[in-house]
Amino acid sequence: MMNWKRFPISFLKRKVVAKYNVLCHIYDVFGLVMESKARQRAIEIADIRNGENVLEVAVGTGLNFVEILKRNTDGWNEGLDISPMMAKKAKKRAKKTGLANYSVKVGDSRSLPYADGSFDLIVNQYMFDIFPTSEYDHVLKEFRRILRPNGRLVLVNTTKGERWTDSLFKCLFHIYPVNKCRGVLMNPHLERLHFQDIKREYIVNYTFPSEIVCSRRS
Ligand SMILES: C[S@@+](CC[C@H](N)C(=O)[O-])C[C@H]1O[C@@H](n2cnc3c(N)ncnc32)[C@H](O)[C@@H]1O
Repeated sequence: MMNWKRFPISFLKRKVVAKYNVLCHIYDVFGLVMESKARQRAIEIADIRNGENVLEVAVGTGLNFVEILKRNTDGWNEGLDISPMMAKKAKKRAKKTGLANYSVKVGDSRSLPYADGSFDLIVNQYMFDIFPTSEYDHVLKEFRRILRPNGRLVLVNTTKGERWTDSLFKCLFHIYPVNKCRGVLMNPHLERLHFQDIKREYIVNYTFPSEIVCSRRS
């Protein structure tokens, strides 16, 4: 098996962009079947207060971005994704809401194009589970940098199954390893970087286990 940790970031970035530029055409099937319960719960937990500055990193096709828009009609909403095709789909979906208080950018979560302390809330779903663990600290520090003091962070990821029936997804990803997706646990990383009030929920959608972890910038 290839040791992808030895490849430079630029090579990996091109690979991810190419993959998601193709996957965007079928992504909503995975997104709706395997992730919809966790996605809905994440929006509840995010507790958006109308008027906030909200960012969704790795916005994908915008499945939850439109939910953010509907709840934050008086605020400002940013979406960002590394794949231009994913970002295009998210823009198209957002446009259908008829709202105009948003922007969707193409960009990399490792180097976020926003000023320090810009956001009340960052939502990020199903991205760390495709990232090498060695990059977590760097990306979480970027999130911390652009959050206001006390700003909230909601992370949703594929996680480790707690019952054997919750681990069937592993077989699926073994047959077709979508971007090295695997179950992750984000709590220890957030604790190490001094995020506060860390809370985790475990949710299973058709044997597909996700965790929702919310925390605050200190
Ligand atoms: C599994 S999809 C999840 C999409 C969306 N968050 C959702 O829940 O529907 C992963 C997304 O992460 C994006 N992505 C991967 N690496 C990224 C990076 N370094 N910066 C920003 N987005 C990235 C991909 O383009 C893709 O849209």
